[in-house]
Amino acid sequence: MTDTNGISPHGGSLINRIATEQEHQEFLGLSDSLPRIQLNERALSDLVMIAIGGFSPLTGFLGEKDYIGVVNDMHLSNGLPWSIPVTLSVSSEIANSLALGSYIRLDDVAGEFVGVMQLNEKYSYDKEHEARKVYLTDDLNHPGVKVLYDQDEINLAGPIWLLERQEHPFFPKYQIDPSASRVLFKERGWKTIVGFQTRNPIHRAHEYIQKCALEVVDGLFLHPLVGATKSDDIPADIRMRCYEILIDNYFPKDRVILAINPSAMRYAGPREAIFHALIRKNYGCTHFIVGRDHAGVGDYYGTYDAQYIFKEFTPEELGIVPMMFEHAFFCKRTEQMATTKTSPALAEERIHLSGTKVREMLRRGELPPPQFSRPEVAAELAKAMHTVD
Ligand code: ADX
Repeated sequence: MTDTNGISPHGGSLINRIATEQEHQEFLGLSDSLPRIQLNERALSDLVMIAIGGFSPLTGFLGEKDYIGVVNDMHLSNGLPWSIPVTLSVSSEIANSLALGSYIRLDDVAGEFVGVMQLNEKYSYDKEHEARKVYLTDDLNHPGVKVLYDQDEINLAGPIWLLERQEHPFFPKYQIDPSASRVLFKERGWKTIVGFQTRNPIHRAHEYIQKCALEVVDGLFLHPLVGATKSDDIPADIRMRCYEILIDNYFPKDRVILAINPSAMRYAGPREAIFHALIRKNYGCTHFIVGRDHAGVGDYYGTYDAQYIFKEFTPEELGIVPMMFEHAFFCKRTEQMATTKTSPALAEERIHLSGTKVREMLRRGELPPPQFSRPEVAAELAKAMHTVD
């Protein structure tokens, strides 16, 4: 394994768009005179990710040239890989009322002043084209496509400032931004770090691929996504308790760091796997786990499409090494977690449950079997879903 201590953020430097104290005061002074835009949950999390450097090299929502490059061939106009459009849309009516060059006040859903954008561009875009290129479908049943079609018709672009980095209301101790995770990795002496994306309660296949990776790298950055997810995904607070329980009972604590990823899920499968890898590169990871149907939903993507897409980039331009894993299951024959690479088991000897199946079981008050989920995690899930007394 190569020594890649201090891996470069994407684009070479970690972006910081959090207003300085002086800028903060200046913006507060202007706040009543600025035109306002209200951000939804996704746009707010994008604003935060840009500001803390999680989306480096972005310094604002994508301008038209970058947007076209990203949608059509997964590169920004400066040639860097980028696979998901990060955009801010408003209605034509609002767009017409905003002057280019002006500062715009960005509010959260509660109307709180959270950020500022300098408006450099306004442009229209083709939702159907974006859907087909990014999500590989324009089916409105796809949750990412649905969000895209619900967006307004004009994108605004320009540099942003986050007024201040607020403490996360629920997971303050796990709010470890890229500048901080990089310091932590250094303090621990980790030279190789594998990032793990997840939006689901942790199960034994997750644990298995994390531990396979941990056999070859120095540390695991367990980085669950806690931004917007589709309504039937398990809420982040329940998932976080499951991760804590798993780490407490089943991991050497000095080899794992649990931290939240504030961004929103897109469910864009292959394209999102690239996006997820670049985000973890910005947090300082050298490696990134991509398993089966990464960031997929329904049957829109092939089981390993999110792995194949890495072949479309050179290792140098990505700058983070994907660690690919086949579909893992509990193997009754070898009595351990395995994949077809390590076990000769027949299909009927494999125990694997889909997330949907597990949710159904929990709703019926049944616990998933220990071969699927650690009993402590299953009990926590059941308790949280009010399915057991
Ligand atoms: S995701 O939308 O965040 O990708 P999930 O939390 O289920 O969903 O997956 C987290 C990571 O674990 C992804 O890289 C996914 O490919 C991988 N993964 C999930 N289940 C399995 C499995 N049974 N075998 C191998 N990899 C898996």
